Amino acid sequence: MTVGEALAHASERLRAAGSETPRLDAELLLGWSIGIGRTGILAHPDAPVGADAATRFEVAVGRREAGEPVAYIRGIKEFHGLAFGVDARALIPRPETEALVDGGIAEVMRRLAERTGEAGAGPGRGGDPIRVADVGTGSGAIAVALAVALRARRVTMGRNVWILATDVSSDALDLARENAVGHAAADGLKFSEADLLPPVLPDEGAPLDVVLANLPYVRSDAIDGLPISASFEPRLALDGGPDGLDAIRALLARLPDVLMPDGVALLEIGADQGEAAPAAVAATLPGWRSTVSRDLAGLPRVLRVDRG
Ligand SMILES: C[S@@+](CC[C@H](N)C(=O)[O-])C[C@H]1O[C@@H](n2cnc3c(N)ncnc32)[C@H](O)[C@@H]1O
Repeated sequence: MTVGEALAHASERLRAAGSETPRLDAELLLGWSIGIGRTGILAHPDAPVGADAATRFEVAVGRREAGEPVAYIRGIKEFHGLAFGVDARALIPRPETEALVDGGIAEVMRRLAERTGEAGAGPGRGGDPIRVADVGTGSGAIAVALAVALRARRVTMGRNVWILATDVSSDALDLARENAVGHAAADGLKFSEADLLPPVLPDEGAPLDVVLANLPYVRSDAIDGLPISASFEPRLALDGGPDGLDAIRALLARLPDVLMPDGVALLEIGADQGEAAPAAVAATLPGWRSTVSRDLAGLPRVLRVDRG
């Protein structure tokens, strides 16, 4: 069997099984089965597929036919230009969440620049690091991508910035730690198994400059209507309660105690929460300011909260 024949056959099976991207799925899974990238697959349609690769591909296509996400089958997902290890311990990071990483980079770099400008202050308040939290870190996507991006900007992680990555799931935290090590980004990352945030923050409870969070925000009654692939992901990562805002509201209630006076929280929200999320801020944090920014498709995506 050639690459082209294997792709055609698998695409047909996956289309029949209900995949919305049968050809792409087949290309990614065949590349993974052979051990080459998707471009190699596309460039060599007449190459033969060896027996071992064909067996791996057959198993992979069978799993995909049953609805399992391609990312879990391959064990890898691209996020913010990095390859993250993914499996059923945590949500597969989504492209829209990259906006939180970009927002985090901008907030940290702005603070570092301001503090470097303070006479004798150095990179932080008298040398204090910028303190960031990624609440509900899952695979560690936000925390690790932020750490890697800051390192690329010559920020010394640990000394200039630290990032606290929390999750209520110890399995997810294990995966996050593996991804941090995999990207040589463990310096300056702290991990904590906690309901939102630990009772005492690191550095003897010093408040945070930046809180980033992609917490579960799907309405409980909408979970069953998600694509079958979502049923392979932890429900804890998706279910946001009756209106989807339970976890977000709980985090908002913690902000007065954990955020610096000039601190900011950037929270991912659902596309249908552009009005409900700011209303939750108004109800939970009277006098605070909130703004919602939209993604490239024009959908509400990031809720920004500060003391105003
Ligand atoms: C939507 S997933 C996001 C994972 C990751 N941040 C990402 O963007 O790919 C939400 C994560 O929040 C965690 N979580 C849910 N409730 C939590 C809570 N009360 N405290 C801490 N983490 C929580 C889940 O275990 C899950 O890993």
